[in-house]
Amino acid sequence: MKFTPNHLLSTKDVSKKDLFNLFKQALKCERIVKKGKSDLLKGKILSTLFFEPSTRTRMSFEAAMLRLGGSVISNADMKTTSSLRKMESLKDTGKVISTMVDIMAVRHNEPGAVKEISEKSAVPVINAGDGSGEHPTQALLDIYTIWKEKRNLNGLTIGIIGDLKNGRVPHSQCFLLKHFKVNLVFVSPKSLKMPKEITAELKKNGLKIRETENLKKTISEMDIALFTRIQKERFSSLKEYNKCKAFYVLDKKLLKEMKKDALILHPLPRVDEVAPEVDDDSRARYFDQVKNGVVIRMALMLNMLGKKA
Ligand code: NCD
Repeated sequence: MKFTPNHLLSTKDVSKKDLFNLFKQALKCERIVKKGKSDLLKGKILSTLFFEPSTRTRMSFEAAMLRLGGSVISNADMKTTSSLRKMESLKDTGKVISTMVDIMAVRHNEPGAVKEISEKSAVPVINAGDGSGEHPTQALLDIYTIWKEKRNLNGLTIGIIGDLKNGRVPHSQCFLLKHFKVNLVFVSPKSLKMPKEITAELKKNGLKIRETENLKKTISEMDIALFTRIQKERFSSLKEYNKCKAFYVLDKKLLKEMKKDALILHPLPRVDEVAPEVDDDSRARYFDQVKNGVVIRMALMLNMLGKKA
């Protein structure tokens, strides 16, 4: 896999070949996790710089590096504790930290901010979510989760449900799904539709897309249902958010409409999109996704640091 200049900022930079190489490496990493750990990245340091809240993503990166025998320097609260408080530029922060570590995973609330941090960095930078922009590693693990079970994505009908305007996960998912002949159903409130540039890009690649507000009418067609949270923190007012809150709720009743072999994914955290009563259903995959996240990030960091599992 070759990203230029070896950063992962967007899934636009991930080719179909990259994707399958990564998946094969991730399968090997599953064996490492089963055994406990390896020393493939012994002596390497990962720095996690988070300007926005996170539980899973940051810990997943850190667990991945520790499983590979490397070390971690973590700042979960860059907003209040870093030199940016002293007005340091993002570029300088990136440059300085890159002289001390081998790879960085960065989350920020502004789209494009992670790119800025990467610009003067001497080491690979991974976008761990930039505002309403992208979240490449989440999308990689989502598609890995589907691939592991279905093997062939071609022909699948995939629903992406929720806040498609502000959700960075759906954006990154789309740039990976464009490599396959899938039918997409975008389900969102009218005010939270997928950005036009993304739908245009997918259509250019020959994908069929249906846009709707109605989950009840379309859920029975889906082989895969990718749920996402309404992104409360991106709304200009609470009043606006309340109009969309709990727009879609997958409960036991709606679950009855779904195909028997469908898969239900969600990056978590969930608010009210998927009711806890769905958790024990054989189609629910959102907790397995978390496990897949560690091995995908292991495979990715190995690749970016020139190693193989
Ligand atoms: C997602 C994120 O941060 O974008 N969560 C995650 O990384 N697992 C999804 C979300 O917050 O809705």
